[in-house]
Amino acid sequence: MFVCICNALRDRDLAEAAKTDTPTVAEVFRRCGSRPKCGKCLPDVAQMIDEARGLQQVFAAAG
Ligand code: FES
Repeated sequence: MFVCICNALRDRDLAEAAKTDTPTVAEVFRRCGSRPKCGKCLPDVAQMIDEARGLQQVFAAAG
């Protein structure tokens, strides 16, 4: 399933990138070779990070 339409990123791609030692949304996008554009997917990506890493403040670092 596509999570980020702007960058054609699937849930499995983002979830895999979120499993690494990366606490920010921006880093997950970098690991997928892209950058956020419209921002509509950012809450979903942040949730993936939160679920994968147990972090609570991913938005603060997404800047
Ligand atoms: S849907 Fe991800 S940046 Fe637009």
